Amino acid sequence: MFARRPAALATALAASCLFALPAWAQEVIARAASPGDVIKVEVQKDGMGKLAYTIQRNGKEIISASRLGFNLANARKLDGGFSLRKQAVSMHDSTWEQPWGERQFVRNRYRELRVDLEQKEQAGRQLAVVFRIYDDGVGFRYEFPAQKQLPVAEIIDELTEFNVKSPATAWWIPAAELPGLEEEIREAPLKEIGIANTPLTVRLDDGTHIAFHEAALVDYASMWLRKVDGQKLRAMLAPSPGGPAVVREGAFTTPWRTLQIADNAAGLYMSDLVLNLNEPNRLGDVAWVKPSKFVGVWWQMHLQSGTWNYGPNHAANTANTKKYIDFAAKNGMRGVLVEGWNKGWESNWGHGGADFSFTQPYPDFDLPGLAAYAKSKGVRLIGHHETGANIVAYEKQMDAAYKLYAQLGVDSIKSGYVHEAGSALFPGRDGKPVYGHYDSQEGVRHFLKAVTEAAKYKLSIDTHEPVKDTGLRRTYPNWLTREGARGVEYNAWGNPPNSVDHEAKLVFTRMLSGPMDYTPGVLSLVGADGKTFNSTQAKQLANFVVVYSPIQMAADLPENYDKYPAAFKFIRDVPTDWADTRVVNGEVGKFVTIARKDRHGDGWYVGAVTDGEGRTLPLALDFLDKGKRYTAEIYRDGDNADYRSARRFDLVTETKTVTAGDTLQLRLAPGGGQAIRLVPQK
Ligand code: NOJ
Repeated sequence: MFARRPAALATALAASCLFALPAWAQEVIARAASPGDVIKVEVQKDGMGKLAYTIQRNGKEIISASRLGFNLANARKLDGGFSLRKQAVSMHDSTWEQPWGERQFVRNRYRELRVDLEQKEQAGRQLAVVFRIYDDGVGFRYEFPAQKQLPVAEIIDELTEFNVKSPATAWWIPAAELPGLEEEIREAPLKEIGIANTPLTVRLDDGTHIAFHEAALVDYASMWLRKVDGQKLRAMLAPSPGGPAVVREGAFTTPWRTLQIADNAAGLYMSDLVLNLNEPNRLGDVAWVKPSKFVGVWWQMHLQSGTWNYGPNHAANTANTKKYIDFAAKNGMRGVLVEGWNKGWESNWGHGGADFSFTQPYPDFDLPGLAAYAKSKGVRLIGHHETGANIVAYEKQMDAAYKLYAQLGVDSIKSGYVHEAGSALFPGRDGKPVYGHYDSQEGVRHFLKAVTEAAKYKLSIDTHEPVKDTGLRRTYPNWLTREGARGVEYNAWGNPPNSVDHEAKLVFTRMLSGPMDYTPGVLSLVGADGKTFNSTQAKQLANFVVVYSPIQMAADLPENYDKYPAAFKFIRDVPTDWADTRVVNGEVGKFVTIARKDRHGDGWYVGAVTDGEGRTLPLALDFLDKGKRYTAEIYRDGDNADYRSARRFDLVTETKTVTAGDTLQLRLAPGGGQAIRLVPQK
């Protein structure tokens, strides 16, 4: 098949002497469709031997010819003069079980298109592009074979493009800016965005949704997306302070470049494509990884009523920690996070982190005594390692720190990398310390190293200020969760607090990448100095279902939970590990309703949230078991509830008997939400 495209005549003539095709011509050299024939990918080559791919969905082109290839520092470009060595199409269909997650069983069904290429003019240098085509999207990656023509690849640019055909609206956050992944999520015409982080979600004018992201980011630079022209995006690799963005020796594969594609926003979230493109579990039996809820010596520091550093208001003292352990034990929560337990918080830790000790507690914190006290009550301390992104200092202590926790029975750690964009300090390629982006190849290496080293001690990790999630929890299930977006802490600081549509945006953008330690459930709805939240109390409960994490923090102070026992009951009851998940409805930035089935019980849990607009959302209960009656424990906004006034606290709790044939009408107040527990009746 040929299609004309404009090109300079001179180039065309020159090229036509070298290659069989004129430069302007496109030859389709490989094609394949998804198992259900929904999505088709074609790979084409022009007269200069340059590669491009296109994607069609239901017969309509949605990604027009988009370039593939690389610029290298140590060799000629890998983007032209290609000829096809061979292509192969194969089918795959399997189902695998997650140790924990949003659903127990995941189906992995795709058609693979493998395109092996060579550059004859470069002594037969080879490259392969492998596409996995699903009914709900596409993943593709490059494979560099071990070859004498390119023993080391020094990648300056990845030239991969995503040329979005129809006019689109984007939800995006800028890359390489302060404060990293914690920017407010912006809505803009796709043609007006700058350099974006992924996942980048777009809605085409016909309603089709696409999320651009990557899977299995290992030993490679994070991919940002740069708008180059119109609606054309090009991969931009996070720069390295060591020169080329990526340096790899021998055979290697790049991360998968992913496009989740669906009719609507709900469909995007239902896709398991990113997880499926990751390698299976490498850790074997991970019964030691424990999805659960936790409380923490934490919110009081963000409220500025306690300090991390040692002094008269030091929050991580033995007596205060015991109070949290007792509270956790009484309310069936497994974990107690304690921040500020270790020496080194006195200095300006967000700008250096050089003074942290990860083994020495402050004198008023009895680490072994508290670890033992917690265990005696069926509770575990959760460790804390704030590094200030001084990865050099952290890696020196990491083994001793992990060993100490493991000896004490502390089996999970929250780590933190607070820093200004571009100022993470990590070991450079020659081993010497260098400053750079936390999501450069060097940074990416560290985040995974922290997880694999932790696994040796059966420790699980919750990373704050992390590199973005790319589904590596499938391969390393001890990478439980991470932050990587604006969490509830912004409501404590207030300038500004999270916007009222934050959760309805999060679900269809950041949450497509994986779990988030959002720290929900602040029923007091007040931050430092009386700053208020853009939320009703019911929304705080709904967030436990809407914003997924296998470990969920009940973030408020125990004394605040004592004030609201009716609301707190939902936080006590809601599980964190799911057999199944259904996105019932949703629109990016407007509303979303999610229903999840408990993995270890028969109950279902529903969360619905809205933006600043009040709404009534129908909830068909057709996911319930037929023939059973359920008690619906409903936590809803009061009739006059509103996030803009003191009526944000108006919460109604009521129960109803329902069956699979019923449809509930969920009334959400402006800035509100609703949480429901559905328990089968005996
Ligand atoms: C930022 C984290 O997000 C927050 O949870 C933590 O309390 C502080 N850093 C201190 O580590």
